[in-house]
Amino acid sequence: SNQQAKASEGRLNAAKDDDVEIFVKSAYRSFEEQSKLKSAYTVTYGAGSANQFSADQGYSEHQLGTTVDFISIGQGGNLTGFDKTAAYKWLQEHAHKYGFALSYPPNNSFYIFEPWHWRYIGVELATDLHDDGNYFYELEQRKIDEYLVSLFD
Ligand code: DAL
Ligand code: ZN
Repeated sequence: SNQQAKASEGRLNAAKDDDVEIFVKSAYRSFEEQSKLKSAYTVTYGAGSANQFSADQGYSEHQLGTTVDFISIGQGGNLTGFDKTAAYKWLQEHAHKYGFALSYPPNNSFYIFEPWHWRYIGVELATDLHDDGNYFYELEQRKIDEYLVSLFD
């Protein structure tokens, strides 16, 4: 959405002001794109492995258009190793101010730890999660619903 694009752009500029380099590697993916990606991963790594880091088509947050994978310099364009970058540290400290939250923290029950994968959920919810040291998928749906009004205002 336009709101998300603006929030994302603002965040990247803010990071730049702090001398941190953050780039978007992947953002919106259609059902078909996710399907092709998942198939390719399944061929290369096998279904067991692929299911640990790639969602089936229809189930990826990337299809929402509100989720981004970030990379930084010194990673050769790869996602792996992002948790060791200044960019990740910066995101941990500041992303919530722009409405973004980490979807898959270490030891989550869905996928491997994905330090690069951030989802726009609105400033209010992202800030509360950050301040509570909590994660989106640990919240109950009725808690999340309390934020919908402000998100769609
Ligand atoms: N890598 C995440 C889980 C996705 O495919 O949406
Ligand atoms: Zn992702």
